[in-house]
Amino acid sequence: MSAAMVVLGLETSCDETAAALVDAERRVLGETILSQLEEHRPYGGVVPEIAARSHLDHLDRLIERTMRESKLGFGDLAGIAATGGPGLIGGVMVGVMMAKAISAVRNLPFIAVNHLEGHALSARLSHGVAFPYLLLLVSGGHCQLLLVEDVGGYRRLGTTIDDAAGEAFDKAAKLLGLGYPGGPALERAASAGDPSRIPLPRPMLGRPGCDFSFSGLKTALRHRLAKPAPGEMADLAASFQAAVVDCLADRTSNAIAMAKTIAPVTALVVAGGVAANASLRQRLDRVAAAGGLDLVAPPLKLCTDNAAMIAWAGLERLQRGLVDGLDFAPRPRWPLDPSAKPGARA
Ligand code: KG4
Ligand code: ZN
Repeated sequence: MSAAMVVLGLETSCDETAAALVDAERRVLGETILSQLEEHRPYGGVVPEIAARSHLDHLDRLIERTMRESKLGFGDLAGIAATGGPGLIGGVMVGVMMAKAISAVRNLPFIAVNHLEGHALSARLSHGVAFPYLLLLVSGGHCQLLLVEDVGGYRRLGTTIDDAAGEAFDKAAKLLGLGYPGGPALERAASAGDPSRIPLPRPMLGRPGCDFSFSGLKTALRHRLAKPAPGEMADLAASFQAAVVDCLADRTSNAIAMAKTIAPVTALVVAGGVAANASLRQRLDRVAAAGGLDLVAPPLKLCTDNAAMIAWAGLERLQRGLVDGLDFAPRPRWPLDPSAKPGARA
């Protein structure tokens, strides 16, 4: 395949409408993203129907702008990729139908990308990380530790048995009255607080394995809030953040040990919106170093939902001849690891 191979990627699985062009030299040639944050803010969370309609309203314009800004035409593309799931199904359908339409009209290969595979391979776009590596994926919808062995080769070492890490931050921020989205607001509040002041549980800490649980921590916070003391908001935020970071670090440390018995991993990669959290990044740096690994954190705009990671995953699949038919059906649930339990969240 030509080194200049270019793929257009579309992302519409949650509350960002995004289009991006990447090439096989790991360059992002164009990128447009529209956040629906303001449309969902009054409801304190993402409303699926509003999200789907908004993707429909904006996606064609975003694609046009991305193509124009990169000065490329559809004739320059080697393929078109779209998130095929998991995610809010109305939005996923909008992106998939758009990609299929362009593919049919332009006679281009269509690639349905698993959104989680987009996150999993993003460090190969930003840093060229070689397989195999360990991935901690922490976002609003996902909390998983994966051994990434190849494109399409994922082994899930651990997952959450209840809430995702970002979801835990969002729910805690709501309890603390900090607004939506909660993660960044909670981190800001925590910066002025004492993380050791309020004792909160660390679910699963010290247990074997790599699974996560956050709902007990959230419940403990709710109980603690039933008897608030004046002026302790920052301490509560800091104590909650410290508990989540402790849990993530402990599980990741176990996963490093487990991954090393399976494959010669060289890096710990962190991805997903929660990877924006500075105290988590600092802690993971230490966890990786203690396990003899480098920590690789893609730049923030590649960690949160974006289309460049979808285009890149599509390109990696296309290079291996892994393309999809126009009969592909969008998948609200789509675990990356085929051995994952049925009914698993993603
Ligand atoms: O990856 P993402 O943009 O969207 C998906 O969920 O797929 O992640 C968003 C999540 C939200 O739950 C948000 O609260 C959390 O990432 N988040 C953070 C921070 N920034 C975003 N959590 C903790 N600290 C942050 N600084
Ligand atoms: Zn995501």
